[in-house]
Amino acid sequence: MNAYLLLALLPVLGLPAISVLGVVEAILKPRVPVNQLQQVRTWKNPLPPTEETIAKGKKLFEGKAFCATCHGRDGKGLGADIEPGTLKGPLPRNFTDKEWQTARTDGELLWILKNGSKGTAMAPFIPLILTEEEAWEVLLYVRLFGQNRPAAAPENQP
Ligand code: HEC
Repeated sequence: MNAYLLLALLPVLGLPAISVLGVVEAILKPRVPVNQLQQVRTWKNPLPPTEETIAKGKKLFEGKAFCATCHGRDGKGLGADIEPGTLKGPLPRNFTDKEWQTARTDGELLWILKNGSKGTAMAPFIPLILTEEEAWEVLLYVRLFGQNRPAAAPENQP
């Protein structure tokens, strides 16, 4: 089941709102260790979001870097294209979550691609699968999901 659908159902199920808050907090909590956070937050994406760089990012997201396998082509995480129950640990991030997009700096997103998120299915992708430059391209595309203008391009429709 979609995590957000589950969240919406909690009050119906009579579960206290506090558990909903707990889930939201768990998503927004920084993944970067506290002692690195300040420095990591200064990292900036060196690439401009142009048609060309975004197209490269999209190609990586859906192709070689297989991000879409877990985050969905629609960026929603565990979308219709993913079999629930195949992943251990927390659900893949929903990139259309604006609160999460605002909570994270570009540096924190790059850190995740370098280090993965321990105890989850999110593995490190740099340097084995992505160069750092390619990672910045993918992240330009990940940012688009937060702006209501991502994978809605016609070629993404089944
Ligand atoms: C095998 C499944 C899987 C693949 C493939 C995958 N992810 Fe993830 N991703 C996850 C999971 C699970 C999480 C949630 C981790 C957590 O809650 O800490 C996540 C979280 C993230 C986050 C959010 C971390 C944060 O700070 O909240 C980013 C950014 C991300 N992934 C980017 C990507 C990109 C870009 C790719 C492709 C290069 C990718 N992921 C491929 C499973 C995957």
